[in-house]
Amino acid sequence: MHVLITAGPTREPLDPLRYLTNRSSGKMGYALAHAFVGAGHSVLLISGPTELDVPGGVDFIPVETAAEMHSAVAQSLGHIDIAVFAAAVADYTPASVAAHKIKKAAATLTLELVRTPDILGAARGEFGFTGTLVGFAAETQNLEANARDKLVRKHCDLIIANDVSKPGIGFGSDHNEVLLVYPEYNEALPPASKHTLAHHLATVILELHQRRKP
Ligand code: PMT
Repeated sequence: MHVLITAGPTREPLDPLRYLTNRSSGKMGYALAHAFVGAGHSVLLISGPTELDVPGGVDFIPVETAAEMHSAVAQSLGHIDIAVFAAAVADYTPASVAAHKIKKAAATLTLELVRTPDILGAARGEFGFTGTLVGFAAETQNLEANARDKLVRKHCDLIIANDVSKPGIGFGSDHNEVLLVYPEYNEALPPASKHTLAHHLATVILELHQRRKP
């Protein structure tokens, strides 16, 4: 099977020194890449900047911005059977990037931000992807309802939802606790290390892919 995984944060530049980003470490996505390659699959990992080593045997495209991740995914999806979007992609990026360091002057500074491309949302329509599509949902409230909304809007086969307001899981942690949201039902998984969870998720996603085959 050919598996594409997005992971890590994006960095949206403000000026040559500064960027907007988030707390994603990439651990969840890299653990998934490790699990799929360990199960004998061909894995392409498209990742924003992290401190992690790329798992052995995994093809790798490093990116910085949401726009770069969008174009790397667009160019790669053609031969992919299963796509898993674990990256924490910035939803907004500065409307313009200053050519030089923004100097401090007034007491307040207002930034104008514009929407980034929704990469997961583009998979079915813009990219024409017909394989198994798995998204994540990072929520701080109404976990199931918000994840189900993403499942429907983004035409996914599965959303892996995590409540990132819970201490000890989610962004940056070695552990996670997720709710699997399918079109017909939900399944809550117990807290586990991202390593253990990724192996279970890889099995679940491969079974889902087999079930969905015509
Ligand atoms: O990286 P770690 O430190 O290990 O943390 C793991 C994690 C918390 C980042 C991971 O488990 C997770 O939840 N990833 C998704 C984070 C996120 O941005 O969720 P979201 O609910 O904002 O986005 C929904 C889905 O759309 C995600 O699959 C996301 O990759 C995708 N998306 C979002 C915005 C955008 N412009 N393009 C996208 O593809």
